Amino acid sequence: MKRIAVLTSGGDSPGMNAAIRAVVRTGIDRGWEVYGIEKGFSGLIEGRAKKLGLRDVSNILQHGGTILGSSRSPEFKTAEGREKALSFLHHQGIEGLVVIGGNGSQTGAHALSLKGFPVVGVASTIDNDLYGTEIAIGVDTALNIALEAIDRLKVTASSHQRAILVEVMGRDCGYLALMTGIAGGAEAIILPEVETDPEAVARELREAYQRGKSHALIVVAEGAYYNARRLGQYFQEHPELGFELRITILGYVQRGGTPTAFDRLLGTRLGGAATDCLSRGEHGVLVGLQRGAIAATPLSEVVSNQKPLDLSLYKMAQVLSR
Ligand code: F6P
Repeated sequence: MKRIAVLTSGGDSPGMNAAIRAVVRTGIDRGWEVYGIEKGFSGLIEGRAKKLGLRDVSNILQHGGTILGSSRSPEFKTAEGREKALSFLHHQGIEGLVVIGGNGSQTGAHALSLKGFPVVGVASTIDNDLYGTEIAIGVDTALNIALEAIDRLKVTASSHQRAILVEVMGRDCGYLALMTGIAGGAEAIILPEVETDPEAVARELREAYQRGKSHALIVVAEGAYYNARRLGQYFQEHPELGFELRITILGYVQRGGTPTAFDRLLGTRLGGAATDCLSRGEHGVLVGLQRGAIAATPLSEVVSNQKPLDLSLYKMAQVLSR
């Protein structure tokens, strides 16, 4: 292999830059040329590649986001779009591709791999909903940002004996909300994976005050049916519940942070593992972390399996919130 390319795709996640840096530097160390594709799969279709040298990835470890830019490319979902991308890769003499991203991105990587192109995926999404890795790049930073917000919100909630509702990202997955709720000491956690009765939530809050608590904090996943908007509206329409919820939606704030040490190290390890795979001719796989070690999982498995949420932790959270 002489020339490879790397791209970042989907929602950016803190630590992606560490992964890019590792791909570039370990690739160059193997004597390869490494190209950065700008704006994810859209860049492959539009032919946006630039050769990256050692210095092009200096000073990026500590920055969130991605120096290559990212996109969600509807065109790449079409057969024509994928053909354009493949013909660009062949035209450029690129022999291997590293795709850093989450579920949608690895579905794209799998599609290229099915066409016979050597692709290695790197697990990266703040949602932590990607099969094949126990934790993905960006999760730790997003979690820490949410926690910092919660710690602050609890202070003001306690001063006013208020009920505060915090909505965290995660698309259809409750992982971030569950972990944030446990580590932040929430009184209630609302997840897409668990049916919620708003009346029961109000009861939990009331009982928390009766047990002498000075605040009531609810963490809700954006993908839950009773997300911040719906739950807020329900409480507003039912004043007899006795709570006026104060709502904070964290949204993109969670994605934009300085990567934690964990995410820098994970990005570095997975980026290095991706070029290891390509060098030994192992492709059509996702590199991730399993039981603390780097592991490669076939992309066919990654895209056809859902990562289950550990609901025993939800039960534990209910006990701990007392
Ligand atoms: O997948 C990462 C994520 O941040 C989700 O948590 C969120 O639902 C989604 O991306 C937002 O997507 P977009 O960046 O396209 O608005």
